[in-house]
Amino acid sequence: MKTIKIKDREFELFIPNGEIETAISRMAAKMNRELAELTPLFIGVLNGTFMFAADLLKKITIPCEITFLRLSSYSGIHSTKQVKEIIGLENIVKNRNIIILEDIIDSGLTIDYIINKLIEKNPASIKVGTMFFKPSAFKKNFIIDYIGIEIPNYFIVGYGLDYDGQGRNLPDVYKLKEE
Ligand code: IMP
Ligand code: MG
Repeated sequence: MKTIKIKDREFELFIPNGEIETAISRMAAKMNRELAELTPLFIGVLNGTFMFAADLLKKITIPCEITFLRLSSYSGIHSTKQVKEIIGLENIVKNRNIIILEDIIDSGLTIDYIINKLIEKNPASIKVGTMFFKPSAFKKNFIIDYIGIEIPNYFIVGYGLDYDGQGRNLPDVYKLKEE
């Protein structure tokens, strides 16, 4: 099994890029079918979604716009359970059909917070798309409209996801090795 080291931790190969590509193609096809009449505004949550958003949007064939917002609730391998303010959303949300794009939904706290902030700006609709989802960690009850790959409650890196700032550039996904 291929393993890598990032700072003080060892990680082992978990999801090769080919599987991610397949999941993204499936999500994009569903979005192209369901959102064709809506000229959606995709909003990617930085930094984690830069790779997912780029790969997904290359496969979106309907009229759409893409922008990004920024906020972070994580440091190290445990959620801090604190969400900071949203940076980067001007008055572009009103009356738009929004698709929030996230790299991974864990507890759901981050997206729940973003949804509530976006509602204040009066969008026409809000949908959620995530590359990875940890169902057993999910504590909220909003609907996740587009899910790439469901995973157990592992800590993962790669494909946009980081461990302490590193590993986002890896095309494959690795999981933390049990000690
Ligand atoms: P939530 O608010 O608990 O849903 O966590 C969402 C955010 O935590 C994601 O956008 C990621 O930035 C980060 N996160 C959650 N799980 C992982 C993981 O396994 N590896 C790296 N980052 C993660
Ligand atoms: Mg994130």
